[in-house]
Amino acid sequence: MTATIIDGKQIAAETREKVKEAVALRVSKGLPVPGLATVLVGENPASKVYVRNKQKACAEVGIHSIGVELPGDATQEQVEAKVRELNEDPTINGILVQLPLPAHLDEEKILATIQLGKDVDGFHPINIGRLAQKGRTPLFVPCTPAGVMVLLERAGAKLAGANAVVLGRSNIVGMPVALLLVKANATVTICHSRTRDLAGVCRQADVLVAAIGQPEMVKKDWIKPGAVVIDVGINRIEDPTSPKGSRLVGDVAYEEAAEVASAITPVPGGVGPMTIALLLQNTLHARELADLNTQK
Ligand code: GUN
Repeated sequence: MTATIIDGKQIAAETREKVKEAVALRVSKGLPVPGLATVLVGENPASKVYVRNKQKACAEVGIHSIGVELPGDATQEQVEAKVRELNEDPTINGILVQLPLPAHLDEEKILATIQLGKDVDGFHPINIGRLAQKGRTPLFVPCTPAGVMVLLERAGAKLAGANAVVLGRSNIVGMPVALLLVKANATVTICHSRTRDLAGVCRQADVLVAAIGQPEMVKKDWIKPGAVVIDVGINRIEDPTSPKGSRLVGDVAYEEAAEVASAITPVPGGVGPMTIALLLQNTLHARELADLNTQK
């Protein structure tokens, strides 16, 4: 079997285009444009790149964005005060506090300060709590996990009753993906560093989501023939044959996995582009929620 490649780049481009059209329509009707504030604390180089890319993507679809930068030694009070200021700003509909935060800060308390209707990352404890509860719906779903679900849908994966295995239990990806899969009526197993017989558990999966940050850890013989494989990992490995001396790989050994899976996401060009596309979609949604509240 040679797997169908799930083209996240293309699917993300379609989502961005839809957001762009919706924003243009708002402008033509004289409605306010959506606004996103990113909050970056400290100098983490990867976070800087992510935040810059998010702002660039906003500009491309006509979403207003501002980038707030605070020093790495900013206090808890300073960060919370900034978030509260953005809560009050009517031109800002979405607030994204880039993670990870410096270790001295209380992440949960900062995320809980974000106004629920502006929580475009879906990390507010109430939004995550609603995601975890039966019959409840969060206002926003975290962007990477939401992107994974779009890719599964576009790949035609049948989730109801399927065995889904999620490798990784992070707050940003693994846990919310698992919760979304439960909502989609899959039977979900979450694996982590203490899981026994990781390969054996993965081999039961009709749907396998890898989000462990270990380069090419998932091998061909970990995959059930015909499984749908979503690779969230983005790992840089040394490669003397590449002009840069390094290249990006996922958590899945892509070439060999593609021989047994029915569908698989590449790295790069799979899940990665979906995160920003879903952020833009969530920001538009936040603006629409604000419209409803101002009509009241
Ligand atoms: N760090 C890595 N991914 C994310 C994300 O989706 N949102 C935020 N806020 N921080 C991140």
